[in-house]
Amino acid sequence: MKILITGGAGFIGKWLVRNLPTNAEITVLDSIDPQVHRSQTDFAEELLKRATCIKADVRDQDAYLEAAEGTDVVVHLASQTGTGQSMYEMSRYIQHNVEGTTRLLEVLSQLQQKPRRIVLTSSRAVYGEGAFTDGTSVVYSKGRRVEDLQAGRWEIYDESGKELVPLPMREDYLPQPTSIYGLTKLWQEQLVESYAKNNQIDYTIFRLQNVYGPEQELHNPYTGIIGIFTSLITQKGEVELFEDGKMSRDFIFVEDVATALTRAIYYQGSLSRIFNVGSNKPTSLVELVTLIAKTINKELKINYSGRFRVGDIRHAVADMSRYTSIFQEWQPTSLEQGLAKYMRWYLEQDPLSSSTLLNSLKEMEEKKLLLESKA
Ligand SMILES: NC(=O)c1ccc[n+]([C@@H]2O[C@H](COP(=O)([O-])OP(=O)(O)OC[C@H]3O[C@@H](n4cnc5c(N)ncnc54)[C@H](O)[C@@H]3O)[C@@H](O)[C@H]2O)c1
Repeated sequence: MKILITGGAGFIGKWLVRNLPTNAEITVLDSIDPQVHRSQTDFAEELLKRATCIKADVRDQDAYLEAAEGTDVVVHLASQTGTGQSMYEMSRYIQHNVEGTTRLLEVLSQLQQKPRRIVLTSSRAVYGEGAFTDGTSVVYSKGRRVEDLQAGRWEIYDESGKELVPLPMREDYLPQPTSIYGLTKLWQEQLVESYAKNNQIDYTIFRLQNVYGPEQELHNPYTGIIGIFTSLITQKGEVELFEDGKMSRDFIFVEDVATALTRAIYYQGSLSRIFNVGSNKPTSLVELVTLIAKTINKELKINYSGRFRVGDIRHAVADMSRYTSIFQEWQPTSLEQGLAKYMRWYLEQDPLSSSTLLNSLKEMEEKKLLLESKA
């Protein structure tokens, strides 16, 4: 099996490469983006030993056209991944994520032999707020209005003002991204689907929930909420939670994601579908920070600031029934177990400095994307 992995030097890519069988012939294409790889300028030794590594941007077609010939499966991970940052660095996100995907597909169309399958990591961000129920039917949210958030109305309400109940995200729900990042991930999906269908290539699109685990870059203040909270708890013993802290997310351990990707790469037969990949369990941010503090045995003060980020969604959890209907087994790592593994690694690292973090929040304040509730 010859596998080309774009963005393979990143967090998920590293774990995927480790998880692949030793007889897989791997090529990793990665620009080693300085925002992600703050502490390195080239591929890590471990990756160089295991894969053919090409340091290039996915948009630079000449850099990998030759190397891509004969590829069986292309795994497209290369992306800019900061949801908040995407709201003001819009062209950067369009160029890397959307143009990057079109450039990759153009390379594939020039190959003598087309790959058998394209695997894309999309995101739960494509759902936006997702779907809700009023007790009788499925209702979609048009997104939360800034005026409501300023009034401290954090949940999703119907037109009569009744609070709606969030539903686990299903792949057939209407995608309604609320961030530029989410929009770029939806375009990636549509580009891959359209190209693959027109060229009789199989595809698998995974809408990943919040991935966490050892080796998630700690020096990138734009992503990795667990690393950010852990840095604040260990350094200051205090965290600020936006809104009322009760928004929820689905945290999935990185090794489970690597397993899901490996299964998709090796799946015999046709897939050509979108699948959620998550733990199927919602965790509120209050629960998360409390669990982190407990895992590292630290006192914790929570500052419920009432601030909110424009474009943030309220609740997210994956419905895994489509995934299990095809791949059957899915027993993700529990958050308790995953955090314990994460902390063993974290405590040996240089933490993200709180000033780097505060600067990233300042950037959002200046762009009027981090606002205060008046409630
Ligand atoms: N980590 C998560 O919680 C999460 C959640 C949902 C979806 N995803 C998706 O999974 C994929 C991998 O995410 P990750 O967490 O490993 O991110 P990451 O930032 O750790 O890795 C991305 C890698 O892509 C490289 N890269 C970025 N732009 C590039 C370009 N134009 N050309 C070549 N390389 C480029 C970076 O150098 C980096 O090594 C992304 O597509 C992301 O959108 C991640």
